[in-house]
Formats: sequence, structure tokens, C-alpha cells
Amino acid sequence: MHDFSYVKISRRNLLLAGAASMSSAAMPAGAAQANAAAVQERPPSTAGVSMKVNGKAVTLQLDTRTTLLDALREHLRLTGTKKGCDQGQCGACTVIVDGRRINSCLSLAVMHEGAEVTTIEGLGSKDRMHPLQAAFVKHDGYQCGYCTPGQICSAVAVLDEIRQGVPSHASADIGARPLLSLEEIRERMSGNICRCGAYSNILDAIGEVAGIAGIAGERA
Ligand code: FES
Ligand code: FES
Repeated sequence: MHDFSYVKISRRNLLLAGAASMSSAAMPAGAAQANAAAVQERPPSTAGVSMKVNGKAVTLQLDTRTTLLDALREHLRLTGTKKGCDQGQCGACTVIVDGRRINSCLSLAVMHEGAEVTTIEGLGSKDRMHPLQAAFVKHDGYQCGYCTPGQICSAVAVLDEIRQGVPSHASADIGARPLLSLEEIRERMSGNICRCGAYSNILDAIGEVAGIAGIAGERA
């Protein structure tokens, strides 16, 4: 659950802001244009945020509207995390924040003060791949590769969720420990879309790392 307690606006100020926006709708065109120009001239509100990204401490001064995805890609040049839909639909932007996977396009960077963020660059490198990266290569779990960083970050967190007993929508009994099965993995990975349709190979890769035996046989 996110903590929004730092957002301080009184009920009176909220009503005043609402009244101001209503009155601007009723303004003559000239006055409305002058008002719009004044708003445009106002500098954006900025804030500092300190995080640990892939084990490295970083501090950024950001427009408060900057998403975590844009902070990573545009400010830290960590372009492994991809922007697909930019509205929480595809999972290409998945990163791990404090051990949990999130869509970084849906989260403001300033909400992550003090957080530990792991991107695909932090999981492994070309010479020292994370087991899931190696399994994706082995099982040919991609074609264009655009969704792959998000798929791998998601898969790392999925296996951790199952290990920790976090229930999913596929859990018949949310009180019971989830089974480590292909169905469970498939359900949990359903927020990561692959337009190339490499799903069966992605599942093979994750299944191998999860230690699920007879994967190919199960799908045959
Ligand atoms: Fe974030 Fe698609 S870019 S979910
Ligand atoms: Fe192309 Fe998944 S490999 S979108």
C-alpha cells in the first residue's frame, strides 16, 4: 500500500482549486489564454529523490511528474528497461522495487525515496548472466527482445512470490501455499505481453529455473 501522507492539501484549498478551475472554464477567451500562458511560464515543481539502483546510491532532482521508468531511462541512462504502452498494459517496464515487481511507467519516481530498485542491468551482465537470463538464451525465449527485460525481471519476482507463498488469481484457496506449477507461473506472468508470441519458450525458461521437471513433455 502506498503512503500518500506526504501530500498535504487542506479541504479549503481543494475547494478553492476546484472553484478556480470552474471559473477559468467560464472565462472569456482572452483571459483564458492569459491564464494558460501564466500557467505555462510557471516552472515545474521539482523534488529530490535518493534511491539505490542496482546496488548504487543515486540522488536525482526531478520534475515531480517524472515516472520511475523515465527516471531510469532518461536520467540514469538505464535503457534496458523498456517503454511499451506507458500505461500499465504490457509489462515491458517491469522492474523490482524492494523485492516486488512493479510497472515502472505507473509509478512516480519521487514515491521511491530510499527504495532499492533492480533493473535488468542489475540482475546480471553478458559475462555473468542471472540464471533466468541464461535460461531465456538457452530456450530462445524471445524474438525481437523488446519485452524480454520486463519478462525476466517479472520472472525473478514471480519465483520469489511463489517461494514466499504469495497467492495469485489462480489460487483456489488463498490461504494455502501456492503450488510451483506451470499454470501458476503462466498466471503470474500474464501481465507481461510478448508481441512476438515467444510464450512457450519463455515458460520453458522459467520452468527450468524453477526446477519443474518434464516441461517439454507437459506441453506436448
Ligand atoms: Fe509500462 Fe507498458 S510500458 S506497462
Ligand atoms: Fe518481441 Fe517479446 S520478444 S515482444
